Amino acid sequence: MPNVIPPTIDIRLTPADLRAAMERDVRQGLMSTPKELPPVYFYDDRGSRLFDEITRLPEYYPTRAERSILDAHAIEIITAAGADTLVELGAGTCEKSRVLLDAMASTGRLGSFVPLDVSDTVLWEAATSLAEEYPGLAVRAVVGDFHRHLDTFSDGGRRLFAFLGGTIGNLDPGQRTGFYADLTRAMAPGDALLLGTDLVKDRGVLVAAYDDGAGVTAEFNRNVLVVLDRELHANFDATRFTHVARWDEDEHRIEMWLRCEDACTVTVSDLGLEIGFAAGEEMRTEISTKFTPDTLADELAAGGFAVEKSWTSAQGEFQLTLARRH
Ligand code: AVJ
Repeated sequence: MPNVIPPTIDIRLTPADLRAAMERDVRQGLMSTPKELPPVYFYDDRGSRLFDEITRLPEYYPTRAERSILDAHAIEIITAAGADTLVELGAGTCEKSRVLLDAMASTGRLGSFVPLDVSDTVLWEAATSLAEEYPGLAVRAVVGDFHRHLDTFSDGGRRLFAFLGGTIGNLDPGQRTGFYADLTRAMAPGDALLLGTDLVKDRGVLVAAYDDGAGVTAEFNRNVLVVLDRELHANFDATRFTHVARWDEDEHRIEMWLRCEDACTVTVSDLGLEIGFAAGEEMRTEISTKFTPDTLADELAAGGFAVEKSWTSAQGEFQLTLARRH
């Protein structure tokens, strides 16, 4: 019986780094036209709990659809990847990682697991329990940001980089190009990428997934204002803003916005900013890009990857793609 290997955690992002990034992002976003906030600031404790609730809503299909693909094909995915190291970007609670780790264990390929996330508490908890649950697995957690800390992992084995959940859809085309460039720099030739992407479908289904009947997504959206009020001593008052989700046919993406119903001025004390909102003005808080298998294969090829295999959920909602770095 292999022993429990004590997990390690490599802190590449300190609370001070995160704070500086938030100040920069918020200042820049509020001074842009239209105003914009990056989706990463949704996820404080309350926001993470709300997102968890979203994943169980009847309208929000992506999490279930992706999970069904993983459950059905994990062994095939791990075998095709030929990997004994799993690097997971945006690992969070590592719930999905377990499915892949089980497949690594049952095919005799359980080597190391490198979860990367910005939240150190969540990561440390997950790393500790995974090391205990999978004797012989080396857990090497990294607190970092996948835009900047992809350079960290090299411990010899054949690696599978997983970026799941459809989070790549949060990036616009230019940011995705940059992300593929960062990834190919971090990966060795022959390393594999497992990418989860939501697919284009009926607009009614898409909009409902981001504007649920119970109003959980609306609360999640407004939560970014609660975060800024607390962290940057702003006075947005989330109750003045309305949740908007719409499908952009040209860009193939859902966009979430917050609409300020009445004109107001918001003070962000920690940034020394006074920001005016016109009546009805909207601020963009998230894009969630949807792909077709063809547009995805094209963009991966341009980014330096060859699609090796892909799996689609039973109703065709969601796709997992295994691609190889050229
Ligand atoms: C976690 C980025 C994949 O875009 O569907 C869910 C976030 N936003 N409902 C998505 C989200 C509104 C989600 N991702």
